[in-house]
Amino acid sequence: MIQVSPSILSADFANLERDLAMLAECGADMAHVDVMDGHFVPNLTIGAPVVKALRKVTALPLDVHLMISEPHKYIEDFAKAGADFLTIHVECDSPIAETLELIRSHGVKAALSVKPNTPASAIEPYLPMLDMVLVMSVEPGFGGQSFIPSALEKSAQLREMIDRINPSCLLEIDGGVSEENAPDCIRAGVNVIVAGSAVFRSDDRKKTISALRGGLESGCN
Ligand code: DX5
Ligand code: ZN
Repeated sequence: MIQVSPSILSADFANLERDLAMLAECGADMAHVDVMDGHFVPNLTIGAPVVKALRKVTALPLDVHLMISEPHKYIEDFAKAGADFLTIHVECDSPIAETLELIRSHGVKAALSVKPNTPASAIEPYLPMLDMVLVMSVEPGFGGQSFIPSALEKSAQLREMIDRINPSCLLEIDGGVSEENAPDCIRAGVNVIVAGSAVFRSDDRKKTISALRGGLESGCN
């Protein structure tokens, strides 16, 4: 089953409650929340207090993507704020295995992400500890960028590794995903699609969310 996790980076930040309700109504499976520290990536967004506020107004699972240099310092805050998934980057400065353990110790699902220039092999040692792998198909930092095609080959490599080592682990892709390239991602073995601009710029968001996972339902905005 393919899940869609729209990125609220493209939502209206003055109306997040309204936009989360719209996503639930339009059939989203989760809400993807992009946390940036202005250091790991050249942009700043939101922190745990906002995740806590979102938790109060939606039943959608919160898929929190930590694009921050030292995630181990903030895991407890994000876990207490109500994150369902916490994704850290394999390129961050925290000890990876310890940080994944910390996430799991709070009963939160642990995920590990790779940037476009990091090989899939960087993930392999940690796969037994993971609930999800996140393949970045743009350089993290901004919404609305173009999909980097080499992410498809990397997804296929990760699919092979996941099937061999930890078959229940999810494989998510994030960055520049659209109705046009989502089928390629799914063919490469991805089962969680993140999409920010493709969902929020659509004039039929239900249809777009459905198309991203391979269906054709429409009629909601
Ligand atoms: C980029 C973020 C993405 C971004 C995706 O650093 O991690 O989640 O919001 O946005 P689109 O789908 O517009 O590329
Ligand atoms: Zn993201």
